[in-house]
Amino acid sequence: MFTLNCDRAYLFAHPERELTGEEQSRYEAALAERARGVPTQYITGHQEFWGMDLIVNPAVLIPRPETEHVIETVLELHTSDLRPQTSDFERESPRSEVRGQRSSVLRILDVGTGSGCIALALAKEFPHAEIHATDISAAALEVARANAARHQLEKRIQFHQADLLQGLNLSDLDFVVSNPPYVGESEEDQVQLEVRKFEPRAAVFGGPTGVEVIARLLPQAYAALRPGGCLVFEISGTIANAVQHLLIASKDGWENVRILPDLQSIPRVAQARRPKA
Ligand SMILES: C[S@@+](CC[C@H](N)C(=O)[O-])C[C@H]1O[C@@H](n2cnc3c(N)ncnc32)[C@H](O)[C@@H]1O
Repeated sequence: MFTLNCDRAYLFAHPERELTGEEQSRYEAALAERARGVPTQYITGHQEFWGMDLIVNPAVLIPRPETEHVIETVLELHTSDLRPQTSDFERESPRSEVRGQRSSVLRILDVGTGSGCIALALAKEFPHAEIHATDISAAALEVARANAARHQLEKRIQFHQADLLQGLNLSDLDFVVSNPPYVGESEEDQVQLEVRKFEPRAAVFGGPTGVEVIARLLPQAYAALRPGGCLVFEISGTIANAVQHLLIASKDGWENVRILPDLQSIPRVAQARRPKA
């Protein structure tokens, strides 16, 4: 399919089709790359996430299906927020003042956007939201911008090159979301060879124990959230206890701290709410 730039149906419908010499050598080149361990997605340049086809290259982490739980958690928190408080119309209408109070437009920040997968999925789900996305890597941001343009979302997302939230001057956010680097350098030899060799190191490793980036993210996210706003981020089973401890022991007093499992019952998402006032 990759070599012929066709879909599966075409292959089944044309079993007689033979590869030209040029196609054969492209096919063999792709196989050789795969044989030396290059992830398929870096060979084809594509990965699906939340129903969208995204461009990927070695500057960005390949989006994982587990990360879709971050989107689901935001949707669930948003819906549960709506129930007792405001109507769908109020929360999802374009920027407007609700009865003289704060604007009803959702304001969301994705920290460490990589390919842009989380920011794009949320832009799709919340058509009127104001969305910001950061990454420390200029090369990653280039991919995220290209993906936004491919999905006609480039006007919906503001991209910033930053170390976490530093220098962004963002406040009053409804959600800070992130899939931060969270693998400990001390467990490097347990990480799949393909990940270690081919995915960006800064996207995978979060310091000696894996929670160092998260520990820096928590107070910055707290300061940027509105009272009642939520932090939602991806974690692994290895760091779940440490993350829960960081949130509960924090002097900021996060509320509604929960660790949610993925489909394999592995702790995968942490959520916490800035107290309402
Ligand atoms: C695990 S990847 C997640 C990428 C994407 N959000 C996803 O879910 O596939 C982490 C991303 O955070 C970025 N990153 C690492 N340290 C950062 C920092 N201090 N500030 C901002 N971004 C950072 C990396 O460049 C990488 O793109």
